Amino acid sequence: SAAEKGGYDYFMLKEIAEQPKAVADTLLGRIDAGGSLTLDEVRMSASELREVDKVVIVACGTAFHAGLIAKYAIEHWTRIPCEVELASEFRYRDPILGARSLVIAISQSGETMDTLMALRHAREQGSKVLAICNTNGSTIPRESDAVLYTHAGPEVAVASTKAFLTQLVACYLVALYLGQVRGTKWGDEISAVIRDLSQISGEVERVLETMEPVRELARSLADKKTVLFLGRHVGYPVALEGALKLKELAYMHAEGFAAGELKHGPIALIEPDLPVVVVVPSPRGRSVLHDKIVSNIQEIRARGARTIVIAEEGDEAVVPYADHLVRIPATPTLLQPLVATVPLQVFACELATARGNEVDQPRNLAKSVTVE
Ligand code: AGP
Repeated sequence: SAAEKGGYDYFMLKEIAEQPKAVADTLLGRIDAGGSLTLDEVRMSASELREVDKVVIVACGTAFHAGLIAKYAIEHWTRIPCEVELASEFRYRDPILGARSLVIAISQSGETMDTLMALRHAREQGSKVLAICNTNGSTIPRESDAVLYTHAGPEVAVASTKAFLTQLVACYLVALYLGQVRGTKWGDEISAVIRDLSQISGEVERVLETMEPVRELARSLADKKTVLFLGRHVGYPVALEGALKLKELAYMHAEGFAAGELKHGPIALIEPDLPVVVVVPSPRGRSVLHDKIVSNIQEIRARGARTIVIAEEGDEAVVPYADHLVRIPATPTLLQPLVATVPLQVFACELATARGNEVDQPRNLAKSVTVE
């Protein structure tokens, strides 16, 4: 009913708007006054966490994209090797697991059969499983050794939005906590990022306030056949997520690529007027990465692509090559997906609406996939 949708036309719009709160709720009570993390609810002792020699993340769809981003954070802040695998592929290739492997199963619903089967397989091999889940008491957390709940609240729209942002928050918390417990050389950076994370819901809110031009752009592209998404570093999984949203909602052909892979094949797809969304990393800090993506944008624009550039406020280097520029607030590199994903959600939702599609209930899809 309209009341359930809180005045919005679709649950998806409501859930996109709820993201600042979902993010804040997921952080609530997990950062103490001294700026340290307390994740006692995870019920794994500091000594157990210090023993971990490998992290393996299993998930499907959007939750898998959160896992891909988590890998960058976990390896950087903890120096523990981390693999990410589609849950549906995991157990069929006889993965190498042991008592010191920490398997993280990410699932909004907690009922995804592929993810459940992957975690059962991991436990049979003697590994500990930590669930990151949004649904209290669902099967995946019940069958795991430990759980960190995301507090997105119920997500009704089939296309995941607020659950994704809170999965990212939970992944960052796990990465930072592991880093904190194990005491890596990134101690100062970890403290600074915990501070930035505690401010991030306000930044998500700011992005939401500036989305009208993105909606306008989406409407103008309603008759396109294909949209490509490019990113580097954590922007690469963001590109994959942008493409998945567009497939699900707009039923358009969409693909996400690592920008560095362009010249290894995908650049052959570039043709005049093809919309290409590029997620640009911060020009601060890892500036080499930034320079590389600016030249990628130049390359595709020289071939006539219509460039839609998502870049941090104050990033002037991209301006000459952007047909459309979407500004996002400055954040630490690893946290950028929390703000960079939002315009892509809005873009896909508006395109679906413009094409007359059922936004909350796309064709052929179920909210949770309880069969393998
Ligand atoms: C996202 O928009 C999807 N509808 C889908 O990819 C989803 O993320 C996936 O099926 C995993 O679901 P889960 O998080 O409930 O396990």
